[in-house]
Amino acid sequence: MKALLVKELGGPNTLVYEDVPDPEVGPGQVLVDVRAAGVNFPDLLIIEGKYQFQPPLPFSPGGEVAGVVAAIGDGVERFAVGDRVVAMGIWGGYAEKMLAAQERVLPLPDEVSFEVGGSTITTYGTMLYALRDRGQLKAGETVLVLGAAGGVGTASIELAKAMGAKVIAAVGSDDKVEVCRRLGADEVINYAREDLKQRAKALSGGGVDVVVDPVGGAHSEAALRAMAWGGRFLVIGFAAGEIPRIPLNLTLLKSCAIVGVFWGAWLARDPAAGAAQLVEIGQRIAAGELTPLVSRTYPLAEGARALEDVAARRATGKIVLLPRG
Ligand SMILES: NC(=O)c1ccc[n+]([C@@H]2O[C@H](COP(=O)([O-])OP(=O)(O)OC[C@H]3O[C@@H](n4cnc5c(N)ncnc54)[C@H](OP(=O)(O)O)[C@@H]3O)[C@@H](O)[C@H]2O)c1
Repeated sequence: MKALLVKELGGPNTLVYEDVPDPEVGPGQVLVDVRAAGVNFPDLLIIEGKYQFQPPLPFSPGGEVAGVVAAIGDGVERFAVGDRVVAMGIWGGYAEKMLAAQERVLPLPDEVSFEVGGSTITTYGTMLYALRDRGQLKAGETVLVLGAAGGVGTASIELAKAMGAKVIAAVGSDDKVEVCRRLGADEVINYAREDLKQRAKALSGGGVDVVVDPVGGAHSEAALRAMAWGGRFLVIGFAAGEIPRIPLNLTLLKSCAIVGVFWGAWLARDPAAGAAQLVEIGQRIAAGELTPLVSRTYPLAEGARALEDVAARRATGKIVLLPRG
């Protein structure tokens, strides 16, 4: 099969597109013929050797795919060859075939395309867990989403709106403002030229109840300062590269909480709850209640261009790689 490989750690241009042997399916494993591979920010980290987990070289990045079951190992009873599925891993997805443990495979509803199914597991899974379980978001509350046109951001807008919240999206360029509005954001702030704290306070009538922060850097403290009494600040990631240091007195003054969110670790600790949420997301997409944004596709061979888009902040919604071009 063809695969996009990391043979030495580095930026997207170090990836090579090569023939490799098909993975051999073992007991409890499912081999997926990949039709769509989602591109996620951690893929950028893993190819540079900056992620929490580091596979031995050479490896293919890519932690989520959609496709068709090509083979099953001994003991696999829930799936048969030919089934439409989504599969999760940490790496191995930027390839024509991906091997996954059966617990990390779920059926893909017929109504959901491979492109959408293969690119929404991580972002929608993370944000349903973040907003509902960790953030205790209630209808009528106001949510401020940083990096709102990105993968986590667009999922946050859709899910928060579906939960009955008012959404203030915050982005770093004017071209991203329209993306957020189309997804249902009530208000949009461009933090490259507007004062995030002042605008968020004004637009929320005094303070926001929940902050979604996948960006980090200088915007985190400004967002915390825009929070309402009893608010919840959801720490999702640090796409800007800088882990902020926060004056803890701010939490005391607002009686607010800074809440960590680590979806992948939660999924490993509570696989049944994680799978139930992912099935729910699939059903809600199939029903048309959620309409995730896939803004761009590339052939698998051009996967480096997708990662360059993410690194350069050009990506909106999700980018998907197509092994069949
Ligand atoms: N905690 C968890 O369980 C979990 C799960 C999934 C993802 N994450 C993390 O969440 C973060 C965001 O993921 P994502 O999928 O939303 O990524 P993404 O689609 O690339 O969006 C990230 C956004 O961050 C902003 N940004 C600011 N500085 C940036 C920089 N130097 N490089 C790239 N983006 C920058 C950009 O928005 P503007 O241009 O508008 O500023 C961009 O749209 C990542 O750190 C990822 O690892 C965490």
